Amino acid sequence: MQTILTGIRTNEEPTIGNYLGSYVPMINAAHQHAGEFEINMFIPDLHSFTTPINHADFYDQTLKGIKYYIAAGLDIDNPHIHVYRNSHVPAHAELCWILDCFTYFGEAARMTQFKEKSAELKENAVSVGLFNYPILMAADILLYNSKYVPLGEDQFQHLELCRDVASRFNRKFKQDIFTIPVSEAEQIKFMGLENGLRIRSLTDPSKKMSKSSKAEKSKISLSDDPKTAASKIMSATTDSVGKISFDMFNQPGISNLLQIEALINNVPLQDVISTWAGETHYGDLKQKVASSVSEFLEDFQGKVAQISDADIEKVLEKGEAYANEVANAKLYAVQKLVGLRR
Ligand code: TYM
Repeated sequence: MQTILTGIRTNEEPTIGNYLGSYVPMINAAHQHAGEFEINMFIPDLHSFTTPINHADFYDQTLKGIKYYIAAGLDIDNPHIHVYRNSHVPAHAELCWILDCFTYFGEAARMTQFKEKSAELKENAVSVGLFNYPILMAADILLYNSKYVPLGEDQFQHLELCRDVASRFNRKFKQDIFTIPVSEAEQIKFMGLENGLRIRSLTDPSKKMSKSSKAEKSKISLSDDPKTAASKIMSATTDSVGKISFDMFNQPGISNLLQIEALINNVPLQDVISTWAGETHYGDLKQKVASSVSEFLEDFQGKVAQISDADIEKVLEKGEAYANEVANAKLYAVQKLVGLRR
């Protein structure tokens, strides 16, 4: 069976950008397609220290990431839904090395995320791991015959690299060993969206809301106190146009709020746009979004608190047994193709 697969790192607290851009589309897809596809929602913990992190809290943060999946509604009792960490499936790191040798330095060096993140770091903090990040991501995807990979807009370039490397490998060895995930446009269509999703920073809506941003007011983390989250929405950067409309180019701040309001209440964006069209009081819209976000956080955090670490360890044991079986079989076939095994 083919797979729908995604991963969300837990090196910092995930934001509502991750939740709306990745958890929700993935969980919707899981509920619609489990059985027709295998559903892999994993934690790419090996990707987490490509930039510096606090290692002392890291293990607990990973467990918390899985609690978030469950609190967001992932049905972990479904036999076709699998949760695991890439660190606990050694085939990921092994396939990554093999793919490294079939990826051109130039194509990896073109990745925008590497350029942006390395520009933010001091020179001696830019690791080889940060450079190699998309190739490990390709291994994560290719080990499981993944056809669909729900992702936010910022990750499409990495998906394209994965498609290029996998196609080249299949051509070189004259075998369709890797399932090629569908193109960006088809992914977007499959997720039922019109465009790739990008929730914007609250303080600078020209940028995405990023969990690694140092500007606390730019982001709403899933663990934010609901009242603090509401006040961040109330102080969100807007514009001086003076009329509410959905226009990402001229009114990115207002458009971002409309999008958050629609996604968090699971209603069509078009309905929210029509409700607010032509209104002039930005404060009223902010108030409404602030209460939607704080109600959501209150409910979500209540659910997280009910899940124990022991529950999570059990989920992982089952998920990692499955993942190792599937991934080892694919790795074995690749090792044969490249001449490492008879
Ligand atoms: P991460 O943890 O940085 O992001 C997780 C997901 O959240 C999406 N996202 C957003 N979506 C909308 N608006 C935003 N402001 C926003 N910020 C983040 C990201 O696009 C992503 O879908 N490289 C992956 C992790 C990964 C992975 C994989 C994913 C590693 N291996 C294999 C899929 C398949 C990442 O960006 O994680």
